[in-house]
Amino acid sequence: MTNLSVNINKIATLRNARGENVPDLLKVAADCEAFGADGITVHPRPDERHVRRDDVYRLRPLVKTEFNIEGYPSEEFLDLVLQVKPEQVTLVPDAPDALTSSAGWIVGDNLGFLTSIVDRLRESGIRSSIFVGTDVDNIVLAAKTGADRVELYTKPYADLYPEDPETAVAPFVEAAGAAFSVGLGVNAGHDLSLVNLAFFHRNIPRLSEVSIGHALICDALYLGLENTVRAYKECLR
Ligand code: PXP
Repeated sequence: MTNLSVNINKIATLRNARGENVPDLLKVAADCEAFGADGITVHPRPDERHVRRDDVYRLRPLVKTEFNIEGYPSEEFLDLVLQVKPEQVTLVPDAPDALTSSAGWIVGDNLGFLTSIVDRLRESGIRSSIFVGTDVDNIVLAAKTGADRVELYTKPYADLYPEDPETAVAPFVEAAGAAFSVGLGVNAGHDLSLVNLAFFHRNIPRLSEVSIGHALICDALYLGLENTVRAYKECLR
């Protein structure tokens, strides 16, 4: 079974636009779970422009499924996740002011750094996932950090899918196979949508989790949150 983790950063962005508590991030998280989401993802950035540090503390006792926190592993970020102890931390190489994650780690250039972070997460009982592209050698190196999983950066798949789905998914099938062969679980995320998710999942049925934010929240404007979460879950059957 592939879990759907809903990234609720966009809800926080909308809330922050007016400086009050509408929409209520905690209620949206609970509702996503009630509608069938298997997890909640947040990406607290240093400038707190969407999910804030205090949101993360308040979400922790509320999230009954899997809590996944993404971010660049600065000392500040580690301090937060080691206190909050989510089920999973996804390590991304973003600069603090990045608009969104736009590439995975070059693991070879960061092997010692990533290994030490993964060790600290494991000591706290937190599963680690490293955000990567589809380069097979890079994925094999990711296993050497001791990480539990990789998250495949799926924007290149999403971009090519409308034109040529088979060619778009092929590197991801190969990358997932490489990850499985070195004992890594495989997550995926970025620009997955109702248009491209089912095909991705059909080609990589052993995916552990997809984490989806932007398209899902946009779809909810038209379909409503409940129908939308159910529709994404349907793509994973
Ligand atoms: N995975 C990672 C590491 C991300 O940074 C993001 C965006 O915050 C996502 C998944 C979700 O991407 P999208 O919002 O395009 O669904």
